[in-house]
Amino acid sequence: MLISTKISEIREIIREERKKGKEIALVPTMGYLHEGHLALVKEAKKSGAFVVMSIFVNPLQFGPNEDFDRYPRNIERDARLAEEAGVNLIFNPGVEEMYPTTNLSTVAVGKLGDCLCGTSRPTHFNGVTTVVSKLFNIVQPDRAYFGQKDYQQYLIIKQVVKDLNFPIEIVPVPIVRESDGLALSSRNVYLSPEQRQEALVLQKSLKAADEWIRQGERSGSLIEEKIKEMIRGESSGEIDYVELRHPETLDRVEMIEDSVLIALAVRFGSTRLIDNKLVEGL
Ligand code: PAJ
Repeated sequence: MLISTKISEIREIIREERKKGKEIALVPTMGYLHEGHLALVKEAKKSGAFVVMSIFVNPLQFGPNEDFDRYPRNIERDARLAEEAGVNLIFNPGVEEMYPTTNLSTVAVGKLGDCLCGTSRPTHFNGVTTVVSKLFNIVQPDRAYFGQKDYQQYLIIKQVVKDLNFPIEIVPVPIVRESDGLALSSRNVYLSPEQRQEALVLQKSLKAADEWIRQGERSGSLIEEKIKEMIRGESSGEIDYVELRHPETLDRVEMIEDSVLIALAVRFGSTRLIDNKLVEGL
């Protein structure tokens, strides 16, 4: 496995692989790898492509009072896990390499970025779309892999690819969870043992909501209230949002029809966790 911090080297290596007839797959990450990230690699490996993983904690997608400085980093461990998973090349640039200018052009997100995480993190998605567009231009992959854990991010990237005509297929990968149901996240390391235990209510409430809907409940706002009640009743988590939205447009769903996205964000102390469930085939 190769590791490079330089855009010019990455381009050179990829050019050589292309010459050999290889397709290129990209797995963008901020590192501190866990099984969720590795599931993306596994999916990317299936196509036989040359797999490039980017590891870059992107300052542009963190708000002024967010956790950019303390975001967990461990490139040696990441490199070992990536190699074991079959990654062929890691792109691990410094901030200077990605953003050498302060006068930066950015990619602005449309309407899909105005709700859910975009409400409490107003600059977040523009940071994501800017860095991902840069990665797409640097690596020029045939396919790029995104987890449904960050469902809104996945939809936004799909929209950017369409709107800006990137010739790239965006492949979604299902959420990977711990055996007790907590969705894997690099941020889980911030949780105290008590918060870690309380956070199980997220998956529990999503499962319960799925059940209520399958038993015939069709009111979006009623389901939202019941989920909030369960979270407040069983944890000290502070709710940022619990919302039922259309899985493609992210429009608010009042009357549930054939499918619905249940998305939530809850703070445990200073750690904000997100989770979601797509309920389909109704
Ligand atoms: P990061 O949080 O490191 O996540 C990288 C990728 O792994 C994302 O596509 C995310 O959805 C996926 N992922 C994380 N946890 C997952 C889980 N439990 N199950 C399945 N997939 C999971 O998302 C980002 O980084 C950044 O915003 C990035 C796209 C790299 C741009 O900076």
